[in-house]
Amino acid sequence: MASFLLICLSTFLLTIQIYGLPNGAPKKACEGSMLPHHHKIQPQPSTTSPITKFNATWNADNETMSVHIESKKPFQGIFVQGRKMNEDKPIGKFIDIPSKMHVVDCPTGDGITHDSPQEWTKLDLTWKKPESMKTNETIQFWATVVVDFKNFWALKSIE
Ligand SMILES: *[C@@H]1O[C@H](CO)[C@@H](O)[C@H](O)[C@H]1NC(C)=O
Ligand SMILES: *[C@@H]1O[C@H](CO)[C@@H](O)[C@H](O)[C@H]1NC(C)=O
Ligand SMILES: *[C@@H]1O[C@H](CO)[C@@H](O)[C@H](O)[C@H]1NC(C)=O
Repeated sequence: MASFLLICLSTFLLTIQIYGLPNGAPKKACEGSMLPHHHKIQPQPSTTSPITKFNATWNADNETMSVHIESKKPFQGIFVQGRKMNEDKPIGKFIDIPSKMHVVDCPTGDGITHDSPQEWTKLDLTWKKPESMKTNETIQFWATVVVDFKNFWALKSIE
């Protein structure tokens, strides 16, 4: 009985620690790997990712990037940021926020995440570069995609 309770308790703790988090990624995931902060479960290898598209295109006329994500399995949660190549924090901001998403106000720029668990199979985002960024700098988008609490992936966009 005691061990059964222990299993229940640790499953419960694990569930709330991971951000299949009902209301999206927390600010403390702003920098670095963007992974949920916990030590038991690692992201799945990118070779098993259900994401079939994660691409971004630059719109020179309004200095935005259109970001497109497609998955062959529905995902419950996501956290996306735009970063300069090889940097560990977000810059810029997301505009035209899709329904059921909100901005995560990180110190250096915005991330974007889900409001509540969803069943998304695709997502289109619009990102606007900061004034300080030169138009010839390369931006890469990073995403943590949560299918369910044991299955999540950390991915980077392909240009
Ligand atoms: C992503 O790639 C698909 C083709 O594979 C293309 O139709 C779409 O416009 C691209 N989207 C962006 C935002 O780059
Ligand atoms: C920016 O330009 C692109 C391409 O011309 C367009 O699809 C998009 O709607 C524009 N976005 C904004 C916020 O003006
Ligand atoms: C980008 O443009 C700036 C000037 O605006 C220049 O100093 C820099 O070398 C350029 N960088 C690349 C990678 O082309």
